[in-house]
Amino acid sequence: MSKNIAIGVDIGGTGIKAAPVNLKTGQFTEDRYRIPTPQPSTPDAIARTVAKVIAKFNPSKKVPIGVAFPGVVQHGIVKTAANVDDSWIGTDLRAIIRDYAGHDVHVLNDADAAGFGEYRFGAAHGRRGSILMTTLGTGIGTAMIVDGTLVPNLELGHILIDGHDAEDRAAESARDRYGYDWEQWIEQLQKYYSEMERLLWPDLIIVGGGVSKSHHMFLPKLRLRAPIIPAELLNGAGIVGAAAAAAVEMKYERDEAKAAERSAKKKAAKEHSDA
Ligand code: BGC
Repeated sequence: MSKNIAIGVDIGGTGIKAAPVNLKTGQFTEDRYRIPTPQPSTPDAIARTVAKVIAKFNPSKKVPIGVAFPGVVQHGIVKTAANVDDSWIGTDLRAIIRDYAGHDVHVLNDADAAGFGEYRFGAAHGRRGSILMTTLGTGIGTAMIVDGTLVPNLELGHILIDGHDAEDRAAESARDRYGYDWEQWIEQLQKYYSEMERLLWPDLIIVGGGVSKSHHMFLPKLRLRAPIIPAELLNGAGIVGAAAAAAVEMKYERDEAKAAERSAKKKAAKEHSDA
């Protein structure tokens, strides 16, 4: 695997997907590999499946691997699990995947990964201003990128609308859950995005998730102030963003380790000369 490649893994409510990503172009270098999310979606079952999708690409230890998770992930630890098994809460995501995969990984929230992917390579490429990324899938994922900086772990899919958790009615899964036709679902989306605009005043709204492939069926019907456009990386944004974020993080950790080594050497030299 060449130097400019990282692997992205996206853990979703229905599938666990991975692909190697070219870090210069954001393109997959091999076909995406997908395994249905095991049920119950416990930490062991998911970590075992993540290890399988990673092994498919046989990466060397030097390849950065990013894993996107559908809940709040703070410093490697899972804090919420709206659409996966509750036993995830408090789990060290980075450690459990490292144990199963035998490879160090970088972990982050799935919507953050998708937002980062769209900022680096997609619909928000290099754009300044406030960009709201939303993913419509089993739940609603949200991320905000302000002048290129990602604000992590925004959980705006869970604001209350008409007294209900917004993602219950406006995520893609709500179409099946309530048997909504396009018009009925669009009504829910309109309420959701109007509320997002009222609170956040984004300059641009991006919509990802599987249903973004059918964006022409619903995006043109939404009446909003900001432009609302489909993710350019469509459903691949999470994989691309996780891979890109892992590469950034790996470099950062390596630089930090080098700086610590340099300062330890300096300290030892000073102690030696003082003695
Ligand atoms: C979770 C978010 C996640 C989103 C999309 C929500 O239910 O709370 O953390 O980003 O689903 O998977």
